[in-house]
This record gives sequence, structure tokens and C-alpha cells, in this order.
Amino acid sequence: MESIWRKTTQLDGFEKLDKNIKCNTVVIGGGIAGILIAYKLKKANIDVVLVEAKSIGSGQTENTSAKITSQHNLIYDYLINKFDFSTAKKYLDVNEKAIDEIESIVSELKIDCDFKRCSSYLYSTMDVQRLKKEYIALQNLGFDAVFHNDIDLPFEVKSALEFKNQASFNPLNFIKGVAREFKVYENTLVTDVVANKVICDNYEIECDNVVFATHFPFINKVGHFFMKMHQERSYIIQVANQKNKNDMYLGIDEDYLSFRYVANQLLLGGSKHRCGENNGDSYEKLIKKGEGVIDNFSCVAKYSAQDCMTIDKIPYIGRVNDKYPNYYVATGFNKWGMTSAMVAGMIISDQILGIANDYACVFSCNRINLSASLSNIIDDTMHSIKGIAIDNLIIPNDKLSSLKNNESMIILYEFNKYGVYQDSDGKRHFVSVRCPHLGCELKFNYDDLTWDCPCHGSRFDFHGNLLDNPSITNIKK
Ligand SMILES: Cc1cc2nc3c(=O)[nH]c(=O)nc-3n(C[C@H](O)[C@H](O)[C@H](O)COP(=O)(O)OP(=O)(O)OC[C@H]3O[C@@H](n4cnc5c(N)ncnc54)[C@H](O)[C@@H]3O)c2cc1C
Ligand code: FES
Repeated sequence: MESIWRKTTQLDGFEKLDKNIKCNTVVIGGGIAGILIAYKLKKANIDVVLVEAKSIGSGQTENTSAKITSQHNLIYDYLINKFDFSTAKKYLDVNEKAIDEIESIVSELKIDCDFKRCSSYLYSTMDVQRLKKEYIALQNLGFDAVFHNDIDLPFEVKSALEFKNQASFNPLNFIKGVAREFKVYENTLVTDVVANKVICDNYEIECDNVVFATHFPFINKVGHFFMKMHQERSYIIQVANQKNKNDMYLGIDEDYLSFRYVANQLLLGGSKHRCGENNGDSYEKLIKKGEGVIDNFSCVAKYSAQDCMTIDKIPYIGRVNDKYPNYYVATGFNKWGMTSAMVAGMIISDQILGIANDYACVFSCNRINLSASLSNIIDDTMHSIKGIAIDNLIIPNDKLSSLKNNESMIILYEFNKYGVYQDSDGKRHFVSVRCPHLGCELKFNYDDLTWDCPCHGSRFDFHGNLLDNPSITNIKK
């Protein structure tokens, strides 16, 4: 189903690239990150072109909750302890600056996107200590957070932490306004980048700099991000006829709920899991929780999205490395892409312009912090090994006859593994279950009827068409 942003926003269309061109910088990807990076470059008089495989905003950005906040779950106590005070302070300051910068863009370009300032809350229904620790960390950083024992939610909480002066908006109306400021090509898939040439379906763009803002970078040799990130999905249901609240809320407990209100609708979020590892009951669980706490509960839409999760909880933003000094990346937003995209715009534009940026070191693509990353490196490696390993449970072909409508299974046929999904009309759809990215075995996702990769999060519909990268090709049908 479509998100409320998609339903209520008529985006401009842009032409497809139909000739070879030259420019200073190519930004690949028209999500919020690519749009803000291209905008900052254009403002600095850089000759920039943005290329988007489908249409702008059609990636994860159209399904976001669009909370614009520096309150990135529990992060500041963690950053002080696992990194240092200076890293935590810079992370906080640059994300606060990002909120102001988004507000300035809205007002400068006069974008009608419902941008409004509000408070953002973390809450717990279970304990006090974790939010107390975060509160103390913020006090030490000189940030004026407010600790509460009670807040305006339809259930009791044990503790809550408020960040004042945060914001929210309609993300698609926002990027629509910003994308009018520079050259955009839509329906233009980039298939490779070779030296200073960006190779699209049929044409090439020669340039000095390339920015990968494709959510998950799709070229493995650039930065080896597949070793440093996985993707996590989460779900949103739109609940109708709710009294609007200005503020936004996120639970920190295992069965958390996220609250964001817009036009008398509640966007209720939750049910997270690693991509490729759901049981098919994610919407159901979220709806059940919603029914339990919200009066007059009526779910009118449901959809999901995923984001790149880094091994140390900090995004990768900026120049990739010395081997590729003209390649830049913006990824690993850990579900906080609104401010992180703006941070990427500020850092990458400075780097391309040769201006020193005080915050760039925090987001460096080459940082290594073993104490912050080790357990996640081990976890990601185990998932990749599991994903690539040949599954012992190969189902013989004769079992295919037992497949019922709305079920899937994996079969072995002439030494190759295929996934089959039988739709509600009894029609069977066969695809290869080998992920084109790095060969992990895809798993069927009963929530969205897709084949999902547990290694790095590529996704395909049951016909085999690519939905989410890092893969850039469909799977074999
Ligand atoms: C359920 C959920 C709720 C969230 N809520 C919030 C929130 O409240 N606040 C917040 O800050 N963050 C939130 N996030 C995170 C946020 O939505 C994302 O971090 C952000 O939208 C990512 O933006 P992006 O530009 O990096 O990626 P995308 O929006 O996915 O854009 C990438 C674009 O690149 C294009 N592309 C990919 N490969 C190619 C190629 N080879 N050639 C050309 N184009 C290509 C794609 O088509 C796509 O349009 C949420 C995430 C989830 C999962
Ligand atoms: S996404 Fe990397 S192997 Fe599938």
C-alpha cells in the first residue's frame, strides 16, 4: 500500500538521460540524501547532475515517518563511552544544525511541506535507568533535554526523555521543492562507475566527482560497505480519525511503538527485524498492539521500509578513501535519514569544494572502532555465512505438489535452487533464490510477498523484479 506522503504528493516528472553528457559532479540516487547533497552543491555553483533509477523519493524516503530530530534513539551515552566526548558532541551539534538547515531550505525555497517544530520523545514502559543515563550524557554535553515520568501517550510509561525544538514535515513535498533547483534525470539506472565515467543504461556521464547516494552503495569494490552494514526492516500502519498531536514519540523497549501524527492520522511504527528474517506476522503484530492501546482503532494503510544499519551506529558520509579520492558516499543512516541526509549534504559539498569540515571525521568511511563494532561484525559475519551456506533442508521436487495457495518453498532442480511462490489464484512463480549481489540465498517474506536477502538486504518481488539494492539486477525467472 502507498504511504500517506505518496498518496498526497504529486511529484514532478523528470526526463530520462538520452545522450552522453559531462558535468562536474554526478549524484547517484534521488532519495532525501541525493537530493540534499545535489542541492548543497548546486548552491555552491557546482555543475551537478542527479540520476535516479526510478523516480525521486521512490526508495525508502517515501515510506519514512519523517521525524527530523537529533534524538537518534539511545546514542549519546553510547557515543561518549564507545568513542569519546568530542565525537558525541560533534554528532549532536551537526544533527541539530541539520534541523536548522532543513528549516532554512524550506523557508528560502518557500516549500509547502508542513514543516513544523515540535518535541521528540523517547519513552520506556519498563525501566528508568537507560533514559536516565542518556539524560545525564546529554546534560554533560550541554544539551537541554527534559526527563519525564509521565507523558501524553495512551498508556503509562516509566520514563521519557524530551528533545525540544525538533521538527517534522512531508518528505516528498520537501524533496519535490528542492529537486527543482538542479538537473535531474529519472528512470536512469547506473550500472557501473569506471574511473570518471558513470555508466547508465545506454549512455555515459563524464565527471570529476561521483556521489553514491543509492541507500546501499551498489558497487562492492568502493568502500566494501557490504562488510560494514546490514539492513533492517520496520513497519508502519496508518490509523485513521486520530486527534492530531504535534509531538513525536519512540519507545526504546523491545516491543517499541513509534508515534507520528499527520492530518488526523497516526503513523504507528514498529515490528523491526533484520531483512530476510521475518515470520510473516509483522503487520499483524503491529495491528494487534495498536488495537490494544488506541481508541477507535481503524487501520487504513500499511507499508514497510528498510534502512542500512552500521556496525558502530554512526553513518558513513564523505570521501570513500584515498584509492577513490573523487568518490563520495552517504549511507548507513540507522533509521535517522532525515538529519543524516542533511549532514551528508553539508559534509560532502564541503569536501568537494575543498573546505575543511569539523564534523567530517565523525562520519569517516575509514574509521575503525573495534570496541564499538566487534559484536556487530561477528553477528553480520555469521549472517553472511548462514546466507551463503547451502541449506541442508533442500525440498525435493516431488513435494511441489503439496504447495498450497499463498505459500512458498525452495526446490532443487538440475542442481540449482529455485524459489516458488503460489499466488492466490494458484499460479506458480519460479525464481532463482541466489542473490545477484554476492550470492546469498533469498528468503520469502510473507508480509510483503517478496524474496529478501538476509546478507545485505536486496529485495525482489515474487516475479523476480528488483525492489531494493545493493543488487542492481533482477533475479532469474
Ligand atoms: C519504517 C522507517 C521509518 C523511518 N522513519 C524515519 C524518521 O522518522 N526520521 C528519520 O530521520 N529517518 C527515518 N527513517 C530512515 C529514513 O527513511 C532513511 O534513512 C532515508 O529515507 C534514506 O534515504 P536515502 O536517500 O539514503 O535512500 P532512498 O530514499 O532509498 O534513496 C536512494 C535512491 O537511489 C536510487 N538508486 C539506487 N540504486 C541506483 C542506481 N544504481 N542508479 C540510480 N539510482 C539508484 C533508488 O531508486 C532510490 O530512489 C525510517 C526508516 C524506516 C525503515
Ligand atoms: S544483498 Fe548482498 S548477497 Fe544479497
